[in-house]
Amino acid sequence: MSLENILVVGKDPKIQRLARPFTERLFSADDTDDTWQMIESIQPHLILVGSGISHNKLCSFLQISRAKCIDTPVVVIGDNDNPQHADHFISLGAYDYLKGDSDHQRLAQVIEKIKKGPAENQHDRTRYFCEDCPSSVSIVGRSGSTLKALKMVRLVAESSCNPVLIVGETGTGKELAARAVHILRHGPDKKFIAINCAALTANLLESELFGHVKGSFTSADREKTGLLELAGDGSVFLDEINTLPTELQAKLLRVLQEKTFRKVGGVEEIECKATIIASSNKNLSKEVKKGAFRPDLYWRLAICPIALAPLRAESRKDDILLLAEYFIKNSTVCPEKAARIKGLTTLAAQALQKHHWPGNIRELRNVIERAMLLETSNKIGLSNLILNPEQLAAGDDEPTNVGLKDFSLDRAEKELIAKALAEARWQKTRAAALLGITRATLYAKVKQYNIQQPSTQPAGAVSA
Ligand SMILES: Nc1ncnc2c1ncn2[C@@H]1O[C@H](COP(=O)(O)OP(=O)(O)OP(=O)(O)O)[C@@H](O)[C@H]1O
Ligand SMILES: [Mg+2]
Repeated sequence: MSLENILVVGKDPKIQRLARPFTERLFSADDTDDTWQMIESIQPHLILVGSGISHNKLCSFLQISRAKCIDTPVVVIGDNDNPQHADHFISLGAYDYLKGDSDHQRLAQVIEKIKKGPAENQHDRTRYFCEDCPSSVSIVGRSGSTLKALKMVRLVAESSCNPVLIVGETGTGKELAARAVHILRHGPDKKFIAINCAALTANLLESELFGHVKGSFTSADREKTGLLELAGDGSVFLDEINTLPTELQAKLLRVLQEKTFRKVGGVEEIECKATIIASSNKNLSKEVKKGAFRPDLYWRLAICPIALAPLRAESRKDDILLLAEYFIKNSTVCPEKAARIKGLTTLAAQALQKHHWPGNIRELRNVIERAMLLETSNKIGLSNLILNPEQLAAGDDEPTNVGLKDFSLDRAEKELIAKALAEARWQKTRAAALLGITRATLYAKVKQYNIQQPSTQPAGAVSA
């Protein structure tokens, strides 16, 4: 399996060694800045960008590639196993992510996928994303609720609405939506700076946002530029705005109204050109009623809020299996299993649809990644779908959430098969279908675990 032209970006010779067996025409560029002309002239079939290129450079390379509509797949070669980065690169348009620079087998799989051609990728796009979802945005979902949210994202991004408020429970995709608003409004070249209001003390947060002048407080030994200024005409994402300390709420309100601010200890008025995108996982109007959030700031923020529904909401339930399938296909923890694991058994799919999803999409992604890690067959079954992982540690003995100390796949499998047989009233064809296995496998398992049909089984419920 080989490709005609492969371009390696970065000075690391290991990546060139990794790529060499897959092509006779290997090109290399030392830096991302050197690539654009090369891409024009050699029209590579694959671009490998690797360790040695800084994270920021890599991200902007991906964003610019997307903006320039370069359709050559870009595969990022990581120098560590940080799945968060993988996730982020893929959301910026990377075709795939390899954990290290010696994984020949994975690269072979990626090349095979590329060779299958764009038909499959286009199919993926229409399968997972709704028509309204711009190609630069990776918000999976085709439910009514996602459709509505995406429409709002687009409308808000195309208007000059500033600030933008995004609300939704934890894990519903607020940051993803914020990045979508940013990309659609400003394109990929402008800065998107995120800051979590809950992560810093009031003083630190103030000086991060507004900057400070030298000597404005004891440790201010040099002047600092705040994020509002650094973002330029890009975006500042104020995550968890509901936790913004009261004294800063007044200062932020002034920025939103006047579009200017002063550094801590400074007198000069600095213009704020950035789009302010704020998110809250709490109901802000309730926070106002409790006296925890300034009503004037709330009204200023809530011009056109983008609301993301929880996964359990009727209007978003349709996204659950689609997201699960997408996470299987794009697993970052076990990418090597993504080609083999074809989906979920019926019981596993039912369990996902019934779950309450307090952690929403983040939780679903984790459940799938965990299942990918445990699964040895070609479908994710109920026994590997651990929906309440904390119960594993606590030793809770639910049939599918067995305590860690006596955690055994065999035991879980036996219980699961017995459960499916009972549910199918011992009709083996139905039980096998529920479990997503063949009848022959079911027979073998029943024998292996010596599962007996209870004598109380109603008459007529004979095995098929
Ligand atoms: N519609 C979606 N399609 C694909 N991935 C999604 C979607 N929504 C969320 N995710 C993924 O789920 C995870 C959580 O999303 P995100 O960080 O945007 O949530 P959040 O609402 O900001 O959560 P929190 O309130 O906890 O900060 C991320 O890995 C994100 O990529
Ligand atoms: Mg977030």
